[in-house]
Amino acid sequence: MAANTQRTLGTLTVSQQGFGCMGLSHTYGQADEAESLKTLDRAMALGITFFDTADIYGNGHNEGLVAKAIDGRRDRLVVATKFGNRLDRETSGRTLDASPAYIRQAVEASLTRLKTDRIDLYYMHRLDPQTPIEDTVGEMARLKAEGKILALGLSEVDSDILRRAQAVAPIAALQSEYSLWTRDVEEDILATCAELGVGFVAYSPLGRGFLANSEIVEANDRRLQHPRFQADAIAANSLRRAAIEAVAASRGVTTAQVSLAWVLSKGVVPIPGTRHVSHLESNWAANDIILTPDETATLEAAFPIGSTVGARYPAGSPPVPSAKRI
Ligand SMILES: NC(=O)c1ccc[n+]([C@@H]2O[C@H](COP(=O)([O-])OP(=O)(O)OC[C@H]3O[C@@H](n4cnc5c(N)ncnc54)[C@H](OP(=O)(O)O)[C@@H]3O)[C@@H](O)[C@H]2O)c1
Repeated sequence: MAANTQRTLGTLTVSQQGFGCMGLSHTYGQADEAESLKTLDRAMALGITFFDTADIYGNGHNEGLVAKAIDGRRDRLVVATKFGNRLDRETSGRTLDASPAYIRQAVEASLTRLKTDRIDLYYMHRLDPQTPIEDTVGEMARLKAEGKILALGLSEVDSDILRRAQAVAPIAALQSEYSLWTRDVEEDILATCAELGVGFVAYSPLGRGFLANSEIVEANDRRLQHPRFQADAIAANSLRRAAIEAVAASRGVTTAQVSLAWVLSKGVVPIPGTRHVSHLESNWAANDIILTPDETATLEAAFPIGSTVGARYPAGSPPVPSAKRI
């Protein structure tokens, strides 16, 4: 059994790695429901207690899938979901809405889909430029006082917003992208989290599969819309990935495992996603890999902050904080 050093996010205690459920709703290629449920079941058997979903993943499908998987085991688990990406069902367009009135609707819908009476960690998915963060967090604090949520989280906000939020109510966790090819948060956000006592959850810790050498084989794979997955960017970024491959080869492990071991070494909680039991088991085993200072230096020299070719999101996506480019 791999090591499983529990980590804390505010008042919550979670497993060393969480499980990101987004890809189980057809984000990076088709997912098979039976295999997804088997994978979630195996995750719980391995000791994973932290499951990450959002109301927008599969337009509710993902929360419904999580509800099926956790049935009978709910009380042992930390279930996180998110609100704020509001879907217009007529146009299928999305708007950002973190207004108090909308949060009320969103939380009830998520509780219903998750078949639970409380959400352990409730995140604002993206900052809503129309709603002051104080109003959003104030309403989240009221939901906590009512017992509908147990802890508050934010996703992809900068240090200033995090400080303003924390002045209103305790924030248990900030969830933002963090991996070898997305080290933007090292510029100041990780330090702000440490200073404020806010836990950090690293999403897309495998670079949406790039750092795991995952192949894109289906035409509806969302990565095909991402700048970093265009041919010229892949070509440039693959040269850097060679450093991970070298460390992995010298240890006889996979590039995914080295990439996860690096994120784990930063003391944060990664939430890798996979549709397959075999990948899950291999990712979990990364808990046992302790990189040497030389290996860490090699990896970080290959991926300086802000050096990855291609933006993190397609043009027109909701804005996210970003590193100074080099
Ligand atoms: N807050 C936010 O805005 C936000 C944004 C994005 C994601 N997230 C959360 O973070 C979670 C994880 O992020 P992510 O799914 O975008 O990216 P990720 O975990 O970095 O990578 C997932 C990709 O890697 C592949 N993969 C995983 N393990 C592998 C292995 N051992 N070998 C080869 N390929 C492997 C998966 O394919 P297979 O299925 O084939 O294994 C999938 O294509 C999501 O599920 C979601 O919960 C949050």
